[in-house]
Amino acid sequence: MSASKVLRVRVESERCQGHNRCCSLAPELFEADELGNALVKGDGTVSPALEAKARLALANCPEHAIRLSQE
Ligand code: F3S
Repeated sequence: MSASKVLRVRVESERCQGHNRCCSLAPELFEADELGNALVKGDGTVSPALEAKARLALANCPEHAIRLSQE
């Protein structure tokens, strides 16, 4: 069986310090809550078109709070 895997992004809220680079770099995937910390939009599914942005956000979070997984 070769089910195609889905890339998903999430934020480890205990690590996030509200730097908001993720929201700037990938506004399609992240938004800020009322405290300025990041939330993932929707269920975190990353479309192929947004994969590069997701990886950029991951690489630029100073707190290493962003996780990508393939399920
Ligand atoms: Fe938080 Fe990192 Fe984004 S600290 S707001 S997940 S850049």
